[in-house]
Amino acid sequence: MVKKILTILEVIEKSSEYLKKKGVPSAKCDVEWIVSSVLKRPRMELFLNYEEVLPQKPLDQIRQLVLSRGKRVPLQHLLGTVQFGGLSLISDSRALIPRPETERLVEVLVNRLSESFKGSIFDLGTGSGAIVLSLCHSLPNSKGFGLEKCKRALSLANENILHCKMENRVKALHYDWEVDKLPEIEIGLIVSNPPYLDITEWESAETEVKQYDPLGALVSKNQGTFDFLQIINLASAKLSKGGILALEFGASHADVALNAMKVLFDVEILKDYNQCRRYAFGTKR
Ligand SMILES: C[S@@+](CC[C@H](N)C(=O)[O-])C[C@H]1O[C@@H](n2cnc3c(N)ncnc32)[C@H](O)[C@@H]1O
Repeated sequence: MVKKILTILEVIEKSSEYLKKKGVPSAKCDVEWIVSSVLKRPRMELFLNYEEVLPQKPLDQIRQLVLSRGKRVPLQHLLGTVQFGGLSLISDSRALIPRPETERLVEVLVNRLSESFKGSIFDLGTGSGAIVLSLCHSLPNSKGFGLEKCKRALSLANENILHCKMENRVKALHYDWEVDKLPEIEIGLIVSNPPYLDITEWESAETEVKQYDPLGALVSKNQGTFDFLQIINLASAKLSKGGILALEFGASHADVALNAMKVLFDVEILKDYNQCRRYAFGTKR
């Protein structure tokens, strides 16, 4: 059988067409990431070498990955990693793929806390460990604890701690905020991106989300408010004066969070890149 010779440009064009037909959002961008990951070359380099002919082995690998992407397996699971807050983290179905909105929360926190921040950071519902690892990465004098109820997510968080070589500064612990107390130590920052989708919002999410992100990482009772209100209660009881609570929540939740927090915290509501009121930053009075 005569194998067809394909250049990088032709592979990108044909694969993008295929993924578009399968309804994949950002099809071309995803193909470029796949090609760049298989060839182990930065994406920019692809543009400079469009006419290069691809050997059969990488071509076969690219084809398999594109077929899987067409079945709506998330790109991050196919590549096995996600870039988040200056780190490369392992990503698979054990925990939620960390989102750009959450990366923005980390950025906001790093800008507000000085680099000399020495406190303990508690990330409630740590999932892959993304928030606590990236915060500790940017705040070199801090120590972090990623708390998580789901054992599968916890195993991924532990792998990411080792992957980022942060085992001296970050620990992942089993914890359920509906049952367990926070440890008896002084906490400087409690941060959380808890589940906050209403079940109807989850039902209308993309296939990637419904099939590959754990449901327990996304959906919360009482129109999505149950979990962050629990965390506000815990943090209100636990933090000392000057302690910080930072939360991410849904686009319609800002006033609920503000009203619950303002009793004991000085609170600012902050917007994400889409101008949604997405985060609360509270300092305990
Ligand atoms: C929206 S995900 C966030 C994951 C990660 N922090 C991130 O931002 O990518 C929420 C996480 O909270 C965890 N979770 C849900 N209920 C919990 C509970 N009662 N106690 C502790 N963790 C919980 C989920 O398993 C999930 O990992």
